[in-house]
Amino acid sequence: MSEAQLNRTSINRTGIIGGGLLLISFAMGMANPTADKADPRDRKWNLALAPQNVLGVQSCEKCHAAEIQTWKRTPHSETFLTLHRKPEAQKIADNLGITNFKNDSNCIQCHYTMGNVDSHLDAIAGVSCESCHGAAKDWIAVHNDYGGPSATREQESPEHRIKRLTASIDLGMRNPVNVYLVAQSCYRCHTVPDEKLVNIGGHNAGSLDFELVSWSQGTVRHNFVRTDGKSNAVESPARLRTLFLAGMIADLEFSMRATAMATEKATFGITSAQRTARSLERLKSAQAKVNHPVLAETIAVAQSVSLKLNNRDQLEMVAGKINEFGVRFGATVNGDELAAIDSFVPPKNKWK
Ligand code: HEC
Ligand code: HEC
Ligand code: HEC
Ligand code: HEC
Repeated sequence: MSEAQLNRTSINRTGIIGGGLLLISFAMGMANPTADKADPRDRKWNLALAPQNVLGVQSCEKCHAAEIQTWKRTPHSETFLTLHRKPEAQKIADNLGITNFKNDSNCIQCHYTMGNVDSHLDAIAGVSCESCHGAAKDWIAVHNDYGGPSATREQESPEHRIKRLTASIDLGMRNPVNVYLVAQSCYRCHTVPDEKLVNIGGHNAGSLDFELVSWSQGTVRHNFVRTDGKSNAVESPARLRTLFLAGMIADLEFSMRATAMATEKATFGITSAQRTARSLERLKSAQAKVNHPVLAETIAVAQSVSLKLNNRDQLEMVAGKINEFGVRFGATVNGDELAAIDSFVPPKNKWK
């Protein structure tokens, strides 16, 4: 893949680089084939899904029943039934003049999955599989095709595997083979990049203590396909390091995207800018341990921009660069070489 291709910030770009790693320059508008650039102002960018391509959790059931059972016990699933009953939610809705949570575009971006119901779009679940892995209509038949109906995982050639994973991502899947793609899903919601929702609605300005290892490896974890389908595997130390650093880059990208939206000196702008500055400092301390070339580039570009109000174009441009570095990091990282970061990676007793 050429540098020129990499630099395109338009929808999903796919390529393969040495060693069969997957390098996909990913912009949040990827599920929206009409978006020519990743623009947080676009509601579809915020939805990060093409709702008309959402199939719903039941379409995964046949092969991923264990994952669904795990997911049902998370706040992501429960929010569908609980959000509108919470007094805090009612207060936010009142502040914004919202009468119906599941029809209001503000809340559905992050608390619900929109999908087709009788030929119109409706909230069909809380935060569900496709909120993190991308709307599945185009990739579902590709992601598990080992090379024909009778082929098994054991029979799949390494070349075919790369082709399959690449195709799935090209078709909009946020495949955890490149963990940055999934990390981006988390931070899109957990930074709450909506000034009005925070400053007028009174919504919290994102999950300030969000950290990818501790937030993904507890109740959220559903590593069944790599096992017999019955046990939920704990990640290897190498993978945890990768998750940890990918999460730090995504925190920087998305807190910067939130800062880009800030127009007034109030909770939203202040919190988002502070979060961005904090994630940059954290990335620098991590880099002092691991000395990774992609982190070096990320830090350099992040330092080149000013975290001030009404600086949207610059901040979005830099966040777009960080997106590219994050995707490249996810595609090229070798967690075995990053043991120097182990003392920073949250241990098991910190996993939510
Ligand atoms: C017909 C069976 C089947 C269905 C239906 C199915 N999957 Fe899968 N899925 C698989 C198999 C098999 C794998 C393991 C692929 C491999 O070996 O890499 C897999 C792997 C995955 C992975 C891990 C990444 C990867 O490519 O290995 C994710 C994420 C995933 N599926 C999500 C979903 C979601 C979300 C749905 C529903 C929208 C779904 N799947 C529906 C069979 C299925
Ligand atoms: C940009 C994403 C985003 C949007 C839009 C959004 N939320 Fe949230 N909301 C979140 C996240 C992420 C959390 C979890 C924060 C945490 O606990 O770390 C949350 C948490 C909440 C909570 C606290 C839940 C609890 O268990 O106490 C309430 C209440 C809430 N949201 C209401 C709303 C309402 C009402 C709307 C629509 C007007 C809305 N949210 C829109 C992302 C969003
Ligand atoms: C579509 C938006 C969305 C995405 C994507 C998302 N979350 Fe969430 N998450 C939420 C909301 C909203 C809540 C709060 C739900 C509530 O309490 O009503 C939440 C809650 C959580 C909680 C529970 C927090 C607590 O204090 O108990 C964890 C853990 C979590 N998310 C982890 C993750 C991880 C890890 C990812 C990415 C792999 C992720 N989330 C992706 C919206 C999202
Ligand atoms: C909150 C975001 C989120 C939601 C919701 C979610 N996933 Fe995942 N999923 C992830 C992340 C992150 C990983 C990679 C985890 C890792 O490597 O530790 C993953 C990994 C997977 C894998 C690969 C597991 C393995 O053994 O390697 C499969 C399969 C999968 N998800 C399917 C699903 C299905 C099916 C659903 C719906 C029931 C679902 N996911 C819901 C974030 C999510």
